[in-house]
Amino acid sequence: MADLKLRHVAKSYGDVQVLRDIDLDITSGEFIVFVGPSGCGKSTLLRMIAGLEQISDGELQIGGRVMNDIPPSQRGIAMVFQSYALYPHMTVRDNMAFALKIAGQSKEQITAATDRAGKMLQLTPYLDRLPKALSGGQRQRVAIGRAIVRDPQVYLFDEPLSNLDAALRVATRIEIAQLKASMPDRTMIYVTHDQTEAMTLADRIVVLAGGGIAQIGAPLELYERPSTEFVAQFIGSPAMNLLPGRVKTVGATTLVALDGGLEAEVAIPTRAGDQDMPVNLGVRPEDMRVTEGTPVFESTVDLTEALGEVTLLYFGTNADTVPIIAKLPGIHPDLKGRRVRLTADPHALHLFHKGQSLLYRDGPPPAYQARTAAPSGSMGSTPTAPDERGGDRIEEGLIKPVGPVR
Ligand SMILES: Nc1ncnc2c1ncn2[C@@H]1O[C@H](COP(=O)(O)OP(=O)(O)O)[C@@H](O)[C@H]1O
Ligand SMILES: [Mg+2]
Repeated sequence: MADLKLRHVAKSYGDVQVLRDIDLDITSGEFIVFVGPSGCGKSTLLRMIAGLEQISDGELQIGGRVMNDIPPSQRGIAMVFQSYALYPHMTVRDNMAFALKIAGQSKEQITAATDRAGKMLQLTPYLDRLPKALSGGQRQRVAIGRAIVRDPQVYLFDEPLSNLDAALRVATRIEIAQLKASMPDRTMIYVTHDQTEAMTLADRIVVLAGGGIAQIGAPLELYERPSTEFVAQFIGSPAMNLLPGRVKTVGATTLVALDGGLEAEVAIPTRAGDQDMPVNLGVRPEDMRVTEGTPVFESTVDLTEALGEVTLLYFGTNADTVPIIAKLPGIHPDLKGRRVRLTADPHALHLFHKGQSLLYRDGPPPAYQARTAAPSGSMGSTPTAPDERGGDRIEEGLIKPVGPVR
């Protein structure tokens, strides 16, 4: 078993502190993804776990053993890098066999291990080729194969798909998911800045920002219950809209008076002292839908982007502020320049004060329950019929210009 424990782990380069107070428990068999903006310390944290960087402060345990001063080769880990770092003059088999030769394994052991890795990664036909005669995806599979032959307890991946083109990235991502499924007791820690990779691969995502951990949780937990505006806007694309306002009516649900005069009901409780508190209302582009009733947001569409399955509506692209974006299912060639009214389910709305979600103000909310079939649930929301969420009603002609067309 290879549980990992990080206790108050910190990293400084000279006077510059890159990471501080990283506390993290990883259970054997988990697929953990580190995400965060470029330069936030993802690679540094991974390299400290690998033993390629000295830990400045705090403690790292793997399988109950303190690893701070144990060399990389004795940590039971293997690392796969973005640059595949293959030896160009060695065949695929020799690249994979290299570490085993150094470790003094027998010819038979090495052949068995490289055969097995080749099979797992569909590299059997290429074992005698040089790296230059392989595609990018195949080269990255060889790099993964070099890790597999060592049969480590913990796999570390640092942006392994970044050098691949889009189609290969998707294919290789699925292969990595299948690889993990084929070794359920092995732990994987995977660094990426690609949130699709994070959402699809992770059991839990660790969002790093500002030198620390912003939030840890299952992918959909971060999506549905972000603890800060930062996480709210980092997970999900396009990013969550933030509309400034003040608390107008407190209670089990909260009425927010938005700057500009509109109001929104939010299914998040507030209490007496919260009256008039400045807040940001968070609403995801995909949670907005056109309404003829009372809108949460109303404006003229400056720009549309038709992506086929959805259309993005941009509002306020000429202002100094960040544009508001709505994502409507389907194709809407006629919305540019029109004034539209948008609303969202009170259960789909988020509320932040000074950057922090009000859901977390009294400590963590009750444990997150992943949704099952119905689009309802964890937060006690009433099920929303699919036709209330957009598409079908738009087909029926709910979208028409509301108010004067400018
Ligand atoms: N050897 C080093 N010396 C000084 N600063 C470093 C060194 N390696 C990384 N850094 C700094 O540490 C920060 C985190 O880097 P890194 O872990 O590579 O970020 P990420 O992988 O999240 O993009 C960056 O600001 C980077 O400039
Ligand atoms: Mg990096």
